[in-house]
Order: sequence, then structure tokens, then C-alpha cells
Amino acid sequence: MTRLQSRGIPTETRKIVRYSYLDRQFAGPAALRTLFEGVESVVKSGQFTLGKEVERFEAFLAARCGARFAVGVASGTDALILAMRACGIGDGDEVITAPNSFIATAGAIAQTRARPVFVDVREDYTIDPAQIVGRITPRTRAIIPVHLTGLPADMDPILDIANRHRLHVIEDASQAIDAVYRGRPSGSLGVAAAFSFHPLKNLNGWGDGGAVTTNSEEIAEQLRLWRNHGLVNRDECAFFALNSRLDSIQAALLLKLAENMDDVTEKRIRNAALYDHLLSDLQPFVTIPPRREDVRQVFHTYVLQVKFRETLIPFLSDRGVETKVHYPIPIHLQEAARHLGYRRGDFPVSERQAGAILSLPIHQYLEEDEIRYVADQIRQFYSNCALPS
Ligand SMILES: Cc1ncc(COP(=O)(O)O)c(C=O)c1O
Repeated sequence: MTRLQSRGIPTETRKIVRYSYLDRQFAGPAALRTLFEGVESVVKSGQFTLGKEVERFEAFLAARCGARFAVGVASGTDALILAMRACGIGDGDEVITAPNSFIATAGAIAQTRARPVFVDVREDYTIDPAQIVGRITPRTRAIIPVHLTGLPADMDPILDIANRHRLHVIEDASQAIDAVYRGRPSGSLGVAAAFSFHPLKNLNGWGDGGAVTTNSEEIAEQLRLWRNHGLVNRDECAFFALNSRLDSIQAALLLKLAENMDDVTEKRIRNAALYDHLLSDLQPFVTIPPRREDVRQVFHTYVLQVKFRETLIPFLSDRGVETKVHYPIPIHLQEAARHLGYRRGDFPVSERQAGAILSLPIHQYLEEDEIRYVADQIRQFYSNCALPS
């Protein structure tokens, strides 16, 4: 008897369901050929920095987001930093964001020398607008709502607060290309929005990449300076800045990969709906966050809350299902945030969720039987647990 059979799974029904999809996305010469064409055109042109491919990608992204401008930069983190810089945020300012994001959101704020100020999240993992006003001080300059998991934050009340208090709203849309809030695409909702094209994002390059979208010509112009040494032209520099250009080869790849964007988005939404359906009766062991009617959530991640997570993860792994936790330590409890003075208990929702969240494989290459298999394994795990009466 094999080890797996002894665990109740005959080897012939066992599947391997990996979290990452890169092995499928770039499998085979056909998938690579068109991508290499894009790379070849950059190499042949000799235009390795900025140039035509970056401009074409920026035009694509701006149109996709319903924004007037997009400016390609080196990463999502730089997109956040430069968006803040272009809004004049820096030393001594405070910027409000959520503590349950990827560390880069707060890291970017700190890199501008502003202070991250956290506000707890709702059950759907997005910042709670009702708690924002209480954190505004005379130093507050901006709010960065994070569209975590690909779900837009509740932007209308946030924009309303920002208007009343004269604050900038910069979307952290790193996980949210193609997401829509009340008919408006992510990337068009605030004064600027940051996107990431990290290899594991829904639109993913072969390395780091990012962009800022904005409707403001002035901010777009500032961003173009900030990403390119502050150079107005070849010889004249307006201010000291960075080299944070979107790599031209990445831009060429992203343009090719973007041709499948509709498919990527639709499949992730379809996969999530199937999981929701298959797992909905596993309450209270499995909690699916509330699904909102006023958004299109694009499921960069599919994040449940589960009981007995530390046992469930190895159980699923033994059955070939790879899972992740995004993110197990809220930012305010990280060593890096110690100087900000937060304590455990300050953000009860984020802290409770951090102990229970689990990300299932959700990518666009999953087959229906793989999703059913994952759901079956979760069901099996809880089959011996008694429901509380
Ligand atoms: C919510 C969020 N913000 C910021 C970032 C930073 O993006 P990057 O890794 O491209 O710097 C990421 C992704 O990694 C993210 O998920």
C-alpha cells in the first residue's frame, strides 16, 4: 500500500494542484513563440529603455483602466512610491492604509519618509471607510485603499472623506487589474493608482514591472520625471529622482500577454464562483467572505477563512493541493513597524483574519475537476468534525 492509499486516497484519483501557474502558462514552444517575437522586436530596435513598447503598453493600460494616462515604472512598489512623490507626499506626512496588505504598501509609504497610519479592514478584507475619519490628523495627506485579492475597496465613501478633508486617494491596485467598482474600473477611481506586473500577478511579466494610472496630466508629467532621473530632456534635470523605468523587454512581453487578459479575468471569476458554490455549506469551518454586488472582483487570490488551518495546510499538501497564506503577519505587528507604536489588539479584524485566512489555487489554467478535487479534499478534512449545535 502506498503512503497515499494509506491516507485514503487511491493514487489514481490523486491530483497535483499547484498554486502557481507559471509552468502551465509558459509550457511548450507555441506559448513562448509569440512572446519571443515581442522580445526580438525590442532587441532588434536596440531601444532597451523606454521607447515604443513602453509607450504602447502605457496606452493599453490607460485604455483598460479608463484613465487618461499610464506611466510604466519598475515595480508595483515603485508605482506606489512615485505616485506619492508626484502628489508631493514626503517627510512628516501621514498616509492611511490597511494593515493586512502586502508589506510593500506600508513600505512604500515609509520610503517617501511619510508615516503609515493603519485602519482596520472589513470582513471582505478591504479598508473600513467608517474607521478612517478617526485616524485623520493635520498631517494626513493621503489614503491608500488596497484592492486586496482583486476586490475594489469601498471607494465612494473613501473618496467622499478624502474630498471633505482634502486628501489624495491613491489606489493600491497591484492585485486588481480589470476589477470594477460601481461601473468604474480600478485605476480610474482616485487621483492615481499603482499596478504591479510581478510574475505572479494576473497580468505578469518575466520579472518586476509596474505602472501608475492617473487622469491628471500634471501627475503623469511628474511621474515621467520621477522615473527617469528628473530629466526634462537628455541634458537638463528638474530635480533629483530615480531610475525606475518599466523595462522595455517587460513592456513587450506584457503587451503580448495582455492579449489574453479577458480570458484570464473571466476564468478566475468563474473558478471563484465554483469554489463559492462547492464550499458554501462548510460554515462554520470554512467562511467565504461576503460577495459584493457592486463590484467585479478579479480574484488575484481566492482567500477563505478556515478553522484548524495549521492542520488543514499539511493535510491538503499531502493530497497534492498547494495553498498559501496572504499574509500571516499583519503589517503593524512586523518588526519593521515597531517604531510606529502599534500593539496586538489594535486591529482586531485584520489580526483575527491573519490567523484564519487561506489562499486556494485560483489561476486561469485550473480545470473544473481540479477545483472540485480541492473542494473535495477540504470537505474530507472537515468530515469528522462535529458541527456545533
Ligand atoms: C497589494 C500589493 N501592493 C504592492 C505590491 C508591490 O508590487 P511589486 O512586487 O511589483 O513591487 C504588491 C505585489 O507584490 C501587492 O500585492
